[in-house]
Amino acid sequence: MGKANFRPTSWEQYIGQEDLKTNLQITITASQLENRAVDHILLSGPAGVGKTSLAYLIGVMLKTKTHILHGPNLQKPSDLICVLTQLKDFEVVFIDEIHAISKEVSELLYPVLEDNTLNLIIGKDYNSKNINIPLPKFTLIGATTNLYHLSQPLIQRFPINLTMNNYTLADLQQIIFNCAQQQTIKLGMPEAYFIAQHSRFNPRIAINLFKRIYDYALTTNCKIITIVLIKVVFKNLQIYLGGISKLEINYLSIINNTFGNKPTGIDMIAQVLNEPVVNITNSVEPLLLKLGFLEKTNRGRVITVKGQGFLQKINFKKFENS
Ligand SMILES: Nc1ncnc2c1ncn2[C@@H]1O[C@H](COP(=O)(O)OP(=O)(O)OP(=O)(O)O)[C@@H](O)[C@H]1O
Ligand SMILES: [Mg+2]
Repeated sequence: MGKANFRPTSWEQYIGQEDLKTNLQITITASQLENRAVDHILLSGPAGVGKTSLAYLIGVMLKTKTHILHGPNLQKPSDLICVLTQLKDFEVVFIDEIHAISKEVSELLYPVLEDNTLNLIIGKDYNSKNINIPLPKFTLIGATTNLYHLSQPLIQRFPINLTMNNYTLADLQQIIFNCAQQQTIKLGMPEAYFIAQHSRFNPRIAINLFKRIYDYALTTNCKIITIVLIKVVFKNLQIYLGGISKLEINYLSIINNTFGNKPTGIDMIAQVLNEPVVNITNSVEPLLLKLGFLEKTNRGRVITVKGQGFLQKINFKKFENS
């Protein structure tokens, strides 16, 4: 299976996100009826939820060339100008990680997005001249994990601004099952569901878990992936229900044990855990809140009965001081 990334090449293969897909399909059909380019689209959402895949898919659906650019590489205006000046009608320009473009490139994009015009200043000082170059009809798709790093004027110049929705376990089950269908070692829907339950509600994590399980099955010469086999792999990887890892378990046990499950401030937890606060708020707490293991009160964090039940079940003591 190697580095296969399983990018969907049809709407059917792109699982979940139904409202978003419907809206995009309507937009694409309407623009085709009037022979105009699809409006510029901004996609936002956490890592691994299918933004890049969706941008590629839109390009495929429009049967046109997609120019792929990466925000961190767009620092000088010329980095973008050379692509825009070579565009042909109806092509797509995709800027992945658009939050990482420089301020200059961002400002260059304003008239591009608003008036389909490249606004350039030629020459220096008194000899400088403003020229406007009209651009072909094209669609810019931007993707970002960090919407709040984009300037408001830039965000507002995207007529279509889409935020990815959460994935259900059924969606993730289907994504895993579809990946498995392309492989020689087989896996059923119940097994796909079991993996989905450990994938932190995230398609990329789901696929990566499947890859690890597949590798294990391959090396141990298993012809079919069973729940027993999956459990062995999860044990080796130290992954627990929901996709919880050691860091989250340590977090839960600190509140529960060290602080006796009294409402605890994030700074205290971060100190004991020896992790930066942002790491905890961005990577640890969202999953625990989603699983209903954690509650944020105005006096601090507490573990719910469900969270305590989970800790008891996995016998958290063995994680202490490790
Ligand atoms: N809705 C989906 N249906 C099927 N597969 C999906 C879906 N969403 C994501 N995937 C798969 O999950 C993996 C990660 O998706 P993708 O790279 O598009 O995420 P992303 O949002 O661009 O992440 P990042 O912010 O890290 O760039 C890919 O292998 C992709 O095929
Ligand atoms: Mg991406």
